Amino acid sequence: MGSNIILTGDRPTGKLHVGHFVGSLRRRVELQNSGEFDKIFIMIADAQALTDNAENPGKVRDNIIEVALDYLSCGLDPAKSTLFIQSQIPELTELCFYYMNLVTVSRLQRNPTVKAEIQMRNFEASIPVGFFTYPISQAADITAFDATCVPVGEDQMPMLEQTQEIVHKFNSVYGETLVSPKILLPENKACLRLPGTDGKAKMSKSLGNCIYLSDTEADVKKKVMAMFTDPTHLQVSDPGHVEGNPVFIYLDAFCKDEYFAEYCPDYSCLQEMKDHYTRGGLGDVKVKKFLNNVLQETLNPIRTAREEWQKDIPGVYEILRKGSEVAEAAAANTLDRVKNAMKINYFSDEELIKSQSLKYNAEA
Ligand code: TRP
Repeated sequence: MGSNIILTGDRPTGKLHVGHFVGSLRRRVELQNSGEFDKIFIMIADAQALTDNAENPGKVRDNIIEVALDYLSCGLDPAKSTLFIQSQIPELTELCFYYMNLVTVSRLQRNPTVKAEIQMRNFEASIPVGFFTYPISQAADITAFDATCVPVGEDQMPMLEQTQEIVHKFNSVYGETLVSPKILLPENKACLRLPGTDGKAKMSKSLGNCIYLSDTEADVKKKVMAMFTDPTHLQVSDPGHVEGNPVFIYLDAFCKDEYFAEYCPDYSCLQEMKDHYTRGGLGDVKVKKFLNNVLQETLNPIRTAREEWQKDIPGVYEILRKGSEVAEAAAANTLDRVKNAMKINYFSDEELIKSQSLKYNAEA
């Protein structure tokens, strides 16, 4: 009893970017290496990606390997974590089907993430049913593995609440069966939602404001040097704002004090640099050059690892295949429990057959 189990994942709709890294990926690797978890499941959520990409299966298919390469190069280790593909676990759809009976349409309509995404995609009246119900499918993902801990970004909070409600409802209707998960959010505010390089609230492929984990060193530098900063900070001598300034938000997310000695010895910590910027007299270019060095320091080892993994693509697919096998066994176990609790276990319930038999054949 009392196992510590992690389940989390990402939709394969593009390569992963530094927002994913500080929002969740970096944490997962730390948790994996902490040794505090009995099992760790990391899922590539292709079925969920298809809920709003039904006409684009090629995009989802091609990005599975990209996400897997990003995972492995960040340090997720198949010897410690089970990496798998959602669509290969049919038990997840089956669980979802039964959970659907426990959730109302109006509850889904109130889910803030669904609401926001409907707006973002201009779905309005033409929301695919599968998309509308993906919070239920996400509850199936989480509960199938008896996850106790779900490390994700802040935007996934409503999904976790929805899952907890489904668990509560299921357990109260059918008896204690499912485990209620806890969300694990990033430790620092900058990591909750890293803005785009253009200063927009979110990094998104369609806005072209992402720094990808797989970007070359030159690409990263170019993107950093072109970053949006404080529009009121026109001259070096002008006082600047660090609040809401993406360059400083990125530093909050990535900078360690030890980087100053090597890359910017004028300061010993980020606060000193911020103070100087706020007073005036510190130019954007200098801050950006420092940020570039900080990012390269983080991304270089990931890039190098990616180059190695890229040499063995069949090996990466094999990791996912094996992981999917392990994941399916775990989900099948939960599905059995669920079916027993719901009393849809007709053929494995001898009592049922006996009692129905007695009804028609009263004993002599
Ligand atoms: N919704 C997540 C995302 O947008 C992906 C996901 C699917 C997920 N199922 C999950 C995350 C279960 C955590 C737990 O990236």
